[in-house]
Amino acid sequence: MAEKRNIFLIGPMGAGKSTIGRHLAEELHLEFFDSDQEIEKRSGADIAWIFDLEGEEGFRLREENIINDLTDKQGIVLATGGGSVVSKNVRNRLSARGIVVYLQTTIDKQVARTQRDKRRPLLQKDDPETVLRNLAEERNPLYEEAADYIVDTDDQSARAVANQIIGKI
Ligand code: S3P
Repeated sequence: MAEKRNIFLIGPMGAGKSTIGRHLAEELHLEFFDSDQEIEKRSGADIAWIFDLEGEEGFRLREENIINDLTDKQGIVLATGGGSVVSKNVRNRLSARGIVVYLQTTIDKQVARTQRDKRRPLLQKDDPETVLRNLAEERNPLYEEAADYIVDTDDQSARAVANQIIGKI
């Protein structure tokens, strides 16, 4: 952690990025950000509304801009949206500006953790398990490519995962 003073959490919906990120930031005395929350703050609209109005393309543009801005900072933990790594620009930016940690989990856990959450419009229309499986197929190689470290979040508390990350970096 000597030079790179940012930690970026990547991984799919329901991997625990926000919860684990908060613990990490607290332990390391860094500032915590969540890209979805920042998009909502800056636009004054919620994620579902942005998807409705601007489509996924519009949302990705906003997401990339927010991530560009946030990664200008030093000393932050950033929980990124699960689809952000689809952009090569985002992957390059994260790698250049900090330590990238891929939080891995099973589809079952993802399904359980993402129920009832309206900030995930991609899971509102079709069967969530099928959607998550398809996304995993497309995105897991990208998470792996971007990651400096890979951590399993399945059978541990968020605090334990945070401590495991601290032990690795
Ligand atoms: C998305 C993940 C969500 C949010 C949006 C799209 C995705 O963030 O950015 O619903 O494409 O995987 P989380 O990974 O925090 O759930």
